[in-house]
Amino acid sequence: MIKQAIIPLAGLGTRLLPLTSVFAKELLPINGRPGIEYIIDECIEAGITEIIFIISKKKIMIKNYFYNDVFFNKIIKKKKDKRIFNEYKKILKYKKMIKFVYQNKPLGTGDAVLKTKNLIKNKFFLMLLPDDLIIKKNCSKAMISIHKKYKSSVMASMKVNKKTVSRWGIYGIKKKISKDNFVIKNVVEKPSIKKAQSNNAVIGRYILPASIFKKLAKQTKNQGGEIHITDSIQSMIKDNHKFIGHNFSGKYLDCGTMAGYIKSSMDISKI
Ligand code: G1P
Repeated sequence: MIKQAIIPLAGLGTRLLPLTSVFAKELLPINGRPGIEYIIDECIEAGITEIIFIISKKKIMIKNYFYNDVFFNKIIKKKKDKRIFNEYKKILKYKKMIKFVYQNKPLGTGDAVLKTKNLIKNKFFLMLLPDDLIIKKNCSKAMISIHKKYKSSVMASMKVNKKTVSRWGIYGIKKKISKDNFVIKNVVEKPSIKKAQSNNAVIGRYILPASIFKKLAKQTKNQGGEIHITDSIQSMIKDNHKFIGHNFSGKYLDCGTMAGYIKSSMDISKI
């Protein structure tokens, strides 16, 4: 059963500067709502009951967003505005599900995952990267069904333009198991165009085994001086742990870049 999700939120958001110089990118509005709310809703709809946020002291604003009760209660008492009341009720619902852990040094996604080690209760958990919005179809829900069917780890994926492979984790296929699902042969973080074995890119949804914590504890830094989750996944694949790449059918919005962020509001407003 996959009941827990983790969301790394300690990133600096440099690709969105200057918007992120004083503001957490995950709270930036996308069509009138903080981006993180779309991610939380995806989790809830997929049956997740607990979400672990990995934040940093610099991103305490994210915790404050969910803990601003005194302010809301005062306003609601004074204004008796139904809309504000409903928004507050929604935030309270979210808050009940969220736990916070800290990653104060930006040492990469692998390091962020390791911070949740003591809170993970089951053999598998879900991870969502908040820059990646997937709309129209719940990707996490689809991945959880695949996990149940094949009893394996899963990563969301899509084919990308060959010129952009160095922006993604790229994997090779060992076996096709159905139209959109593949057993992964190996995965490499942000390879050069020359070295990339394919254009199958990993997108920010993962069902990971708790056994990955052992790998992460030993994982050395790689590209950019960071600890990459991709490297520990590769190490698990080498040990014969099965990872499935799932080509999701929703629409992908890359909210981690300025062009993608701007476009995301327009795309969401159309649905
Ligand atoms: C991360 C992962 C990468 C993946 C990407 C998807 O990279 O490390 O493997 O393809 O998310 O968005 P980042 O966006 O943090 O550079």
